Amino acid sequence: MNEEQVLRAVEHKMLSVVNSDVEVLRDASRHILESGGKRMRPRLALLAYESVGGQNPEEVISVAAAIEMVHTATLVHDDINDHGMIRRGRKTINSIWGRTFALLTGDFLFTKVYELMAPYKDLNVIFAQMTVDLVEGETLQAHAAKSGSLDRETYTRIIAKKTASLFAGAAKMGAILGGGSPDQIEALEQYGFSVGLAFQIIDDILDLIADSATLGKTAGIDLTQGKGFAVAAAGGNGSTPVGVAEAEPGSDLKRKLLAGNYIEEGRNNARQLVSLAELRLSALPESPSREALRELAQLAVERER
Ligand code: IPE
Ligand code: IPE
Ligand code: MG
Ligand code: MG
Repeated sequence: MNEEQVLRAVEHKMLSVVNSDVEVLRDASRHILESGGKRMRPRLALLAYESVGGQNPEEVISVAAAIEMVHTATLVHDDINDHGMIRRGRKTINSIWGRTFALLTGDFLFTKVYELMAPYKDLNVIFAQMTVDLVEGETLQAHAAKSGSLDRETYTRIIAKKTASLFAGAAKMGAILGGGSPDQIEALEQYGFSVGLAFQIIDDILDLIADSATLGKTAGIDLTQGKGFAVAAAGGNGSTPVGVAEAEPGSDLKRKLLAGNYIEEGRNNARQLVSLAELRLSALPESPSREALRELAQLAVERER
């Protein structure tokens, strides 16, 4: 099976597992899953698997699907919290079906992960830790935004938990399934962690500078919520939360963030993280999948959506 075939099997797996006889859960799950997405995390799991010499990529399909389902579930819930109206180029579940069904669809996707992961024994421990981190990261973020306490240190802690944990976990689980040595597993986990941090910093920059049509999701949300790289780098969101009114396009805050050097600083941070990630790849033998991991790391920072 080549990469494209494996990823297609991952899509198929996700769609078949959400085939509930409760119509709204089935329709809303399909709505978000069929709208695509970059599929960074399943690709990462697959490439990690292959890069350590894994020969039977079918082994990775369910785990890759489970990781993407968790990620998708967090987006569904994130759009409720952030009042996102567009996701992956389509109307969000909350804007079509309302918040209650969006909440339940997210829960449904999370719950289906048990089914996908059931055969994988010990990997479930890693999986559980990864999802705990995610919830902790989102909670820390909401708390920092609400209390106006977002500084650089808190920001790094937040993105480590809410984003890098999933990238690290995807790479680690792929490497374990592929039979990697302890050193290789560790190197891939750290690679994933650094790529994940870089990926979120760039996501925050794009939220500030790109438009919703390009991103396929509602842009400019971070500012209205008092979160993201630039807000943290600009010295935090002050002692009071950033209000929606003051964060409107063309607002003082947005002008301040754009005028500061924060976008360049963020891009530089992200590039450094990617260099670090690339260094970790030297623990692996040369191969097309190692090269693809190098490209995936570059893509995390050089992307426009
Ligand atoms: C968005 O993730 C949320 C972040 C962690 C930044 P992606 O940019 O991977 O979203 P999709 O899957 O491509 O829609
Ligand atoms: C990503 O954060 C959500 C998680 C990692 C759980 P964002 O709020 O930045 O994601 P987008 O920008 O809405 O995709
Ligand atoms: Mg969001
Ligand atoms: Mg974002």
